[in-house]
Amino acid sequence: MLPKKPPMGFNTWNTFGPDISDAMIRETADAMVEKGLRDAGYTYLVIDDCWSKRQRDPVTDKIVADPEKFPQGMKAVSDYVHEKGLKFGMYSCAGVRTCANYPGSYDHEFLDAKTFAEYGADFLKYDYCYKPDYADGSLLYRRISMALQSSGRDILLSACNWGCDDVYSWIRSTGAGMYRSTGDITDSFGSFRDIFLSQLDNMKYNAPGCFNDMDMLTVGMRNRGNVAAKGCSDLEYRTEFALWCFFGVPLMLGCDVRSIDDTTLKLVTNPWLLRINQDAECRSAFIAHKDRDNLCNVYARLLSNNEIAIMFTNLSDHPHGEVWFPLDAIGIPPEAGKALQLTNCFTGEDAGTVKEYMLLPLEAHDCAVFIAKVVDA
Ligand code: GLA
Repeated sequence: MLPKKPPMGFNTWNTFGPDISDAMIRETADAMVEKGLRDAGYTYLVIDDCWSKRQRDPVTDKIVADPEKFPQGMKAVSDYVHEKGLKFGMYSCAGVRTCANYPGSYDHEFLDAKTFAEYGADFLKYDYCYKPDYADGSLLYRRISMALQSSGRDILLSACNWGCDDVYSWIRSTGAGMYRSTGDITDSFGSFRDIFLSQLDNMKYNAPGCFNDMDMLTVGMRNRGNVAAKGCSDLEYRTEFALWCFFGVPLMLGCDVRSIDDTTLKLVTNPWLLRINQDAECRSAFIAHKDRDNLCNVYARLLSNNEIAIMFTNLSDHPHGEVWFPLDAIGIPPEAGKALQLTNCFTGEDAGTVKEYMLLPLEAHDCAVFIAKVVDA
């Protein structure tokens, strides 16, 4: 089944890298339930690279879980995750080795898909390292998709080829439910800003069935773990999360949810932001007012129930006194006699009614998000 809304969950890579284990996954599953993340919609628990032994089994040719990290095998971990009401995600690669140099699924697609089905996987992240030059990328994603479909289990294919080889033009035809469109994120403002800006022209490819994946969130990592860089302030994490929500892309948490702090937990369970991300109609966001270098754009997105989401951004390094946009830019000319009644998505508070235009000062790296209804002026 292809996803109708952007998938949500947790992935081990950002914080844990190779330091994954049976205990760490079980504790994460517990935390996702206890902290209300599962009930907020974060249902996939995905184990990324470095989960297997370095070589396939010499007799069966199967990939084998690392017995030191996962002494009870993967099925036991998967069962535990399922008992918690979560879905279980695995990782492999279209090439001969994974990006961290473990066995990849090239030429073993049907065997590996069967193995993942035996584990009880519901999701497979499929990377692109060590792909033989002569192999066609679209064929490799078609092959693993075919293998998953004949595995006897409903497994969401999460492609990860970083936007290479014109992936936008063919990924939807492979049967993937989401696809990474950028290189790897690190925990810094510059990293998520550049990833976001690189996707402005690709948002038209983001739609139900196959979502544009801007990578796992670094929100709340606080510069600890595998992709630590400069770290971000609370304000910057808020902007990152708001961008991912507003643009309707998958929300895969990358922080250590076992020790998630209250500010981060409140942010990632913010009901207004999640409502925008998970809106039933999944329409694309568009630029309502364009700044010269896209750093201080205003975006809009039509939601179901005749609501409109509006996002003001200041991704520049300087305060901006007046991020401005005319309501006409979203189709409300002054002579229509209409106004927008606003709810502030960060607080849930009524933010009043505006006519003709909006003007908002924003600190460097800040943003503001509103859900609006059209009312009589
Ligand atoms: C690639 C992917 C990352 C992660 C690593 C694992 O770099 O883009 O998201 O899966 O591989 O090695």
